[in-house]
Amino acid sequence: MTIPSTVTLIDVGPRDGLQNEKQPVSAAVKIGLVHRLQAAGLRNIEVTSFVSPKWVPQMADNAEVMAGLQRQSGVRYSVLTPNMQGLEAALPSRPDEIVVFGAASEAFSQKNINCSIAQSMERFAPVVAAARAAGIAVRGAISCAVGCPYEGEVAPAQVAYLAGLMHAIGVQHVGVADTIGVGTPRKVQAALEAALQHFDLSAVSGHFHDTYGQALANTLAALELGIYQFDTSVAGLGGCPFAKGATGNVATEDVVYMLHGMGIDTGINLDALIEAGQFISDHLQRPSGSRAARALLARRH
Ligand code: HMG
Ligand code: MG
Repeated sequence: MTIPSTVTLIDVGPRDGLQNEKQPVSAAVKIGLVHRLQAAGLRNIEVTSFVSPKWVPQMADNAEVMAGLQRQSGVRYSVLTPNMQGLEAALPSRPDEIVVFGAASEAFSQKNINCSIAQSMERFAPVVAAARAAGIAVRGAISCAVGCPYEGEVAPAQVAYLAGLMHAIGVQHVGVADTIGVGTPRKVQAALEAALQHFDLSAVSGHFHDTYGQALANTLAALELGIYQFDTSVAGLGGCPFAKGATGNVATEDVVYMLHGMGIDTGINLDALIEAGQFISDHLQRPSGSRAARALLARRH
């Protein structure tokens, strides 16, 4: 397998990145972040989630954020919808893509979405059908594809099982997620290969949290399998409120720096992306989680 020459990044910072922030971030700042990301060349942006505001208060302004976007043609705006209530709330916002999110571990399914894996499929099936009938693309997230904060190591067979269930209900693309960042390259490859039993290469992406500093290595390992789509988070923002201690996704800036250094095209302007990361880091009053952004900014001063 040759390494892909073009890679598509989905910036999940506005959603995965900000969902974990304790202090409320205003809708205006979230909208400003999305605008900066699209100006930097991102063509896929995960904007928000239509989940219970009691569970994730930071995403309660979902409709307001979606309504405030100045949409750019060619950009795909996605939102998370865990059930029909979420989809119905999301539809007036006209997302281009919705994401149903399941887990390869039973315990995480319970903690994150309050139901078993089997029950989650019953909830997702009508969501997927209604979204597809409305012409909206459907992605599925497979959380804990390598390890679970409650159950420990997760076998690739569990990932294959979930991918098979998602395929059967009409999910078009799956993101293999290392929710807590415990994966190392060969284990991540095994999880991706498990998803590839049910989905084409064009329909599998990687979603690697960087808790243990493995995410760039895992990205490279995924590229070796030919995977060319990745979720990343500007400034390395993020985490999951239901996975204690898990840090953000791999920083978009770091992945772009690596890919461009390898001669791989992303369509992203790294300088403009660094500005987007600086905008949100300034707002959160925290240094960027991107090593590349910090290094490049230090050279400017
Ligand atoms: P539930 O309690 O089982 O749902 O929650 P329910 O149907 O029994 O309803 C209970 C209450 O929630 C009711 O309100 C509903 O109206 C409300 P009440 O009568 O008590 O006032 N409700 C909703 N409100 C707004 N939008 C909705 C909705 N559904 C029910 N869609 C539910 C089930 C999934 C909703 C809940 O567990 C939840 O919201 N969980 C949050 C999950 C979440 O957002 N997790 C973080 C995102 S996933 C992630 O980060 C992982 C990922 O990045 C990949 C990776 O890294 O692994 C994607
Ligand atoms: Mg995540």
